[in-house]
Amino acid sequence: MSTRAQQKPLVVVENLVKHFPVKIGAFGGKSAVVHAIDGVSFEIYQGETLGLVGESGCGKSTTGFALLQLHKATSGSVKFDGVDLAQLPTKQLRAMRKRVQIVFQDPYSTLNPRMTIGEALAEPMRVHKICEEKEIQHRVAQLIRDVGLNPNVANRYPHEFSGGQRQRICIARALASNPEFIVCDEPISALDVSIQAQIINLLMDIQEKYNLTYLFIAHDLAVVRHISDRVAVMYLGKIMEIASKDDLFGHPMHPYTQALLSAVPEADPDLERSRQRIILQGDVSNAIDPPAGCRFHPRCAYATEICSQSIPELSDQGGGHRVACLRLAEIEKETA
Ligand SMILES: Nc1ncnc2c1ncn2[C@@H]1O[C@H](COP(=O)(O)OP(=O)(O)OP(=O)(O)O)[C@@H](O)[C@H]1O
Ligand code: SF4
Ligand SMILES: [Mg+2]
Repeated sequence: MSTRAQQKPLVVVENLVKHFPVKIGAFGGKSAVVHAIDGVSFEIYQGETLGLVGESGCGKSTTGFALLQLHKATSGSVKFDGVDLAQLPTKQLRAMRKRVQIVFQDPYSTLNPRMTIGEALAEPMRVHKICEEKEIQHRVAQLIRDVGLNPNVANRYPHEFSGGQRQRICIARALASNPEFIVCDEPISALDVSIQAQIINLLMDIQEKYNLTYLFIAHDLAVVRHISDRVAVMYLGKIMEIASKDDLFGHPMHPYTQALLSAVPEADPDLERSRQRIILQGDVSNAIDPPAGCRFHPRCAYATEICSQSIPELSDQGGGHRVACLRLAEIEKETA
């Protein structure tokens, strides 16, 4: 964990489950349940960035949404600053909402096209009574400056900006209520590669300036490595491994993490030449009918009979490096 992160957990997630009832079949006549997240537990320390990675559909966004109570969890709890959000009465949850925000992947659909940038930033300040009416203009200008734009854009509309500028405005809007925690759900995936680094640097700068805590969801492992203090790896609704970024990238223990990381090119040409790519067989299993036992077993090169019978729990391998694998000791010996 970096020195920036302190030891106090701001967010504590325990056994979080989110199932979506759906209709399936040619005419949608059959009921089924999508196991989007199934017993997820982790904590996010004040001032840190927890990266959340995993293949498409593994439950990353659902986790972020359930944390912010944008999805009502099926079971489990999310404590923010010691308070169980699911138990809060509506009025207190609304008050809590100013402390937790989200930045989405698509800045085009996040902003109201009929609101000027100034109006879009002033709205959350009014809703959450962040400051006196006479201070709003000043705070709007400050926020626009904070995200690297000129305050004279306040009277312009979202369509007048580029994708990168629009994402800056979405970040300013997330900051408008003075939050402590922000879920960044793939905030750079929709942007041109040349703009992505600027937005990452902006997120890191404002984190420092406002002592923010992030859950940073992304596909790009190099970006996650750059921005995160710790990283959690998800597979089919479960966390498979969670560790400091140095431990996770330096010594990945779970077979799924090893496969994910083996796909990342090395900057050093010598290391890149010796890199051994692990090709996973088959597709991610269906979240409607997840495999019994370890969810990764149909694709795991180390799976034995026990893997389809018992569910592995996260267990601490030292220094907060937690791994959910029934055969970890044997695998470590085999690969040593
Ligand atoms: N509102 C919903 N109704 C039914 N199923 C849903 C709903 N939202 C998500 N799901 C399902 O839950 C699972 C997890 O979805 P989620 O969007 O959390 O994945 P993700 O890891 O964020 O994927 P991506 O990387 O593609 O954004 C998927 O199987 C998805 O189809
Ligand atoms: S529990 Fe079994 S299937 Fe799951 S990761 Fe470990 S070895 Fe592979
Ligand atoms: Mg998603």
